[in-house]
Amino acid sequence: MTGPPVQIAPSILSADFGRLAEEVSRVEAAGADIIHIDVMDGHFVPNLTVGPPIVEALRKVTALPLDVHLMITHPDSFIPEFAQAGANYLTVHVETCPHLHRTIQSIKEHGVKAGVTLNPSTPLSTLEEVISVVDLLLIMSVNPGFGGQSFIPSSLDKIVRARQLIARTKSHAVLEVDGGVKVENAAEVIKAGAGILVAGSAIFDSSDYAATIRAFRSEAHKVLH
Ligand code: DX5
Ligand code: ZN
Repeated sequence: MTGPPVQIAPSILSADFGRLAEEVSRVEAAGADIIHIDVMDGHFVPNLTVGPPIVEALRKVTALPLDVHLMITHPDSFIPEFAQAGANYLTVHVETCPHLHRTIQSIKEHGVKAGVTLNPSTPLSTLEEVISVVDLLLIMSVNPGFGGQSFIPSSLDKIVRARQLIARTKSHAVLEVDGGVKVENAAEVIKAGAGILVAGSAIFDSSDYAATIRAFRSEAHKVLH
């Protein structure tokens, strides 16, 4: 992804689902860089959300990249459908992929950028062998399943180590952080090495999306300049 050094990805999980298209247009107009879509299956995580038809519908509403976070068991069988629906990034959990390298290859073969992610309890070392072929590394800073949870403090150290892993392996992966990211802790998360901040409740529960996104950018500016 090109653009500012730190990109802001509103998670639509906290949007008003009855007005989803309008909510996505509003965050785009408010300056968002990426739209983060959380796909949950009620099995890998204890919640149910959306599937390919919603991705396809949102593809028609926005020009922004669609970053699809798959919290589902057996993600391989859905890769063609999500690719066809217009996903730009497909991110899978290592906990759901016994053949992670094959899954990454399959995502790429469908013309989509490949992301991998880890639950808070899963060590970074599970990615050692694949990081060099990954386009996006997502560090979960909450246990996935719900918006509005608190950032797990030990995630900061994991972000630092993820940044080191990317550098050491000369991977081109962008580093994304998801869960409990607020304007108040954005500086720490960026200092640790995040390149994309996912923010659900911080943006959609605010009264002025543009002001909140500007506040995130201002935190990034303070850290990086
Ligand atoms: C959690 C999801 C997140 C969630 C983040 O399982 O992956 O993307 O929407 O929400 P906040 O920013 O409210 O923690
Ligand atoms: Zn997510």
